[in-house]
Amino acid sequence: MAAAPAIEFRSVTKKYGDAAVVDNLTLSIPQGKITVFVGPSGCGKTTSLRMINRMVEHTDGEILVRGEANTTRPVHELRRSIGYVLQQAGLMPHQSVLDNITTVPRLKGVAKKQARAEALELLDTVGLDRASASKYPAQLSGGQAQRVGVARALAGQSDILLMDEPFSAIDPVVRADLQQSLLDLQQKLHRTIVFVTHDIDEAVLLGDYIAVFAPGGTIAQFGTPEEILRAPACDYVASFVGRDRGMRRLTFAGAENVAVSPLQAAEGEGWQLRLADGRPDGWLTGGRHLPGGSLFVRGGTLRDALDSVLSSPSGWGVAVDEQGKALGLLEADSVLEATRQERYLRYGLEAPWARGESADSRQNSAAAASDGGASA
Ligand SMILES: Nc1ncnc2c1ncn2[C@@H]1O[C@H](COP(=O)(O)OP(=O)(O)O)[C@@H](O)[C@H]1O
Ligand SMILES: [Mg+2]
Repeated sequence: MAAAPAIEFRSVTKKYGDAAVVDNLTLSIPQGKITVFVGPSGCGKTTSLRMINRMVEHTDGEILVRGEANTTRPVHELRRSIGYVLQQAGLMPHQSVLDNITTVPRLKGVAKKQARAEALELLDTVGLDRASASKYPAQLSGGQAQRVGVARALAGQSDILLMDEPFSAIDPVVRADLQQSLLDLQQKLHRTIVFVTHDIDEAVLLGDYIAVFAPGGTIAQFGTPEEILRAPACDYVASFVGRDRGMRRLTFAGAENVAVSPLQAAEGEGWQLRLADGRPDGWLTGGRHLPGGSLFVRGGTLRDALDSVLSSPSGWGVAVDEQGKALGLLEADSVLEATRQERYLRYGLEAPWARGESADSRQNSAAAASDGGASA
């Protein structure tokens, strides 16, 4: 890792009585990246997170924050320099959204007017209406409250954010939305984020790096999601990431090698893609109109491509451009063929098939499909 770590655990142990709940933890958390602590319940993730800002004091070892032992400065100063987001957002119920967001900046001495102006901008940043500023936490949905929680953590202007299962209590659809918002936000902000979850899918989606915690408060593996899925360090990690591991791997593989067929390609099998304004609008077959499956947006992953095929009533996935206009169809066989190529690439093996079909000719087929879509 090139940049100096933002946070470093050096042989850190936390004991309650004689029992170590975090045991001799050594870990470097890189700057400007999302590092996820993942593992089953009770393995010391929350404790480790809270030791960073000393909501929990460690028993042994040393924790460096921005290169300095976290015991050097007064604890309130340390805490205000680190944003914190809890599972239940942790908003003050008797304070408006605006007051919740401006609390820490005000404590830090930011003038009221400036703190309010910045809070309103933060509402934009996390995707909330400015009108929510005057609401109280009880008037917000779970998803909105979490967005306020994130805004409040950002308001401290801190380069480090700790997030403890912030999306775990949110229903799946809204959760997916919040996860994407966090990724979008991070694209702009490049904060050091330490994110705790028990959900390996969430870890893979969000993490630049993942620390897999094992019972007993140790780390079984630290690496990129890709490394951990490709080469689990031990049986424990393999079984923890095991479910759907093959599917999850497809998340890292681009679909540029999937051949795109013309929009009419399924007609021989009795399926016609219906278009509305150039956009897919379900399938026509035997006089019936069936809703379509998930769309494959150009530039997506092999997992997206496969999902498009598997969710389509015709068995043909539909590729669209960024505006949602239909580009062409994806055949199950061509997606599987691309996964086969990806497999050889991944293991650095020489492919047994002749590489007659060039990337160029595939580009052409995608372009042809696009023309077909425009004229259909
Ligand atoms: N204040 C405490 N006193 C005693 N044991 C605790 C305390 N806080 C946490 N523990 C124990 O430490 C272990 C790790 O807890 P925690 O860090 O919350 O795990 P996780 O976040 O991975 O679910 C658990 O066995 C928990 O019961
Ligand atoms: Mg926890």
